[in-house]
Amino acid sequence: MCGIVGIIGKENAADILLQGLEKLEYRGYDSAGIYVTNGQGENHLIKSQGRIADLQKKMNGDVNGTIGIGHTRWATHGRPSERNAHPHTSENGRFTLVHNGVIENFEEIKQEFLQDNLMEGETDTEIVVHLIAYFSERTETTKDAFRQALSVIQGSYAFALIDTQEPEVIYVAKNKSPLLIGLGDDFNVICSDAMAMLQETSRFVEIADGELVIVRADAIRIEDQVGNLVFRESYEAQLDLNDIEKGTYPYYMLKEIDEQPSVMRRILAHYTNEAGETSVDPAVIDEAVHCDRIYIVACGTSYHAGWAGKRLLEELAGIPTEVHLSSEFSYNMPLLSEKPLFIFLSQSGETADSRQVLVKINELDLPSLTLTNVPGSTLSREAKHTLLLHAGPEIAVASTKAYTAQIAVLAVLASAIGRAKHEPAAAAFDLSTELSLAAAAMETIVNEKMMIGQLIEAFLADTRNAFYIGRGMDYFVSMEAALKLKEISYIQAEGFAAGELKHGTIALIEEGTPVIGIITDKKTAAHTRGNLKEVESRGAETLRIVSDSLAGKGDQLVIPEVHPLLSALVSVIPTQLIAYFATLHRGYDVDKPRNLAKSVTVE
Ligand code: M6R
Repeated sequence: MCGIVGIIGKENAADILLQGLEKLEYRGYDSAGIYVTNGQGENHLIKSQGRIADLQKKMNGDVNGTIGIGHTRWATHGRPSERNAHPHTSENGRFTLVHNGVIENFEEIKQEFLQDNLMEGETDTEIVVHLIAYFSERTETTKDAFRQALSVIQGSYAFALIDTQEPEVIYVAKNKSPLLIGLGDDFNVICSDAMAMLQETSRFVEIADGELVIVRADAIRIEDQVGNLVFRESYEAQLDLNDIEKGTYPYYMLKEIDEQPSVMRRILAHYTNEAGETSVDPAVIDEAVHCDRIYIVACGTSYHAGWAGKRLLEELAGIPTEVHLSSEFSYNMPLLSEKPLFIFLSQSGETADSRQVLVKINELDLPSLTLTNVPGSTLSREAKHTLLLHAGPEIAVASTKAYTAQIAVLAVLASAIGRAKHEPAAAAFDLSTELSLAAAAMETIVNEKMMIGQLIEAFLADTRNAFYIGRGMDYFVSMEAALKLKEISYIQAEGFAAGELKHGTIALIEEGTPVIGIITDKKTAAHTRGNLKEVESRGAETLRIVSDSLAGKGDQLVIPEVHPLLSALVSVIPTQLIAYFATLHRGYDVDKPRNLAKSVTVE
């Protein structure tokens, strides 16, 4: 989704902004722009629809300056176009601004303050820069004008603002959208994601919602809503530049699929003690032991991981668990139990739909735990407790290692709670051994990736649609498998409970429709096989992903068997590879699917 970078105090500001924007490409965008000034009247505003490479071409290597801001835009209000791309400039040319988020009351602001202004594009952002210009004529300083504009704006935002009359400053503010200040020697940077500026600095300062920051080359000043000075310690970003490079891989997605066995081992190392016992923050366990129901709240792939989590928490910890889509939860809140515990699953920790639920939960003063891959992310900061996924940065839009990491950490959590509650199922579950076996099984499958690529080349070559079916844990994986396939290969895919097909959806099966069955559960294997036969008799082409102990003649993808509670960790890997290869065969960009963003920071 939209990304912001800014720099003040370095000669080659334009190059640094471009590099930063490239690092944000993975988040998804449709246009980009930069504004660079040398502070002595040489100002450059360059915008472009399409890729950063297009923007770079337009810059033609002759943009000089020491101060600048840059932006990647993922369209919300107004089509992707050069006109709508950021930065936006006030009519008098004095103020230039970039924005992430959504201004909810932009129509009202236009009516009340800006009726005489000519808008160039259709974005909600453009009104903000005009509003600042409007207030600047009625207040003493730019800071006051900015603050006044902030006081009338409703919605989510991260802003970076440059005033040509004060070119030694970048003004910054945020509410609900992420933004960080990076500290350098005689220069400072701003960014919506630390990755963007990691090549410049690894020392960052967080900004809280409602704060306004005055960033100079040699100092930053953070003020709260009423102008009081705020002191905040900086922190060292625990990110390695190598982790965010593709290395020899053609795509991040393939690298991240391959990393999954080592992520499992890393999770074990983080969450087990020397005796091999699970070790989780006692405050989290205490909270869970005293709750009467767990509510898992998440979106997309994380939501699918939540279903595997439900099974783990109910079986190992003995706690009834519900799984909810964040975007539905706040508006259709279920009747809550007396002592609920909320678990937010979010790779990025920034998903706006999940955050808005957390805000409500905090207002109700209910306990919450975030499982996230990004330390210091909004959902992590705002929840009462956090457990980290330790998956390393996930760059591909299609989430892979975060899904398996979420399930593994949920397994750790469920096992630790179950043991604290003396649940017999938890006592019998040897997490270290089972997770290590799952990691080895995952490794076996990733090592066979080329075979999977060949197998599905013809199977999914020209199809318009495809189905995944399974029961129980295999159904949960089917939902995730279908999401993966559709989001990057654009094949219309659905994940179904195998038994449910005959209640309607089987009408869609035609000659040659691909149906992939996932079979890892002894109890339901025969039934799922029966459902595959039903679709075959109606012309479907079937492919079976089957655990080795259940495999039969003709099963195309036989995978190692692991503990049934962890089967999703293993059965999902071939489905990730199927999505990857189907996309490659169809000639699409695996890492940057159309219309999608990595971190979805609007509701
Ligand atoms: O960062 P989050 O886990 O909160 O993101 C939730 C979804 O947007 C995300 O899982 C999305 O569905 C993925 N692109 C799927 O691959």
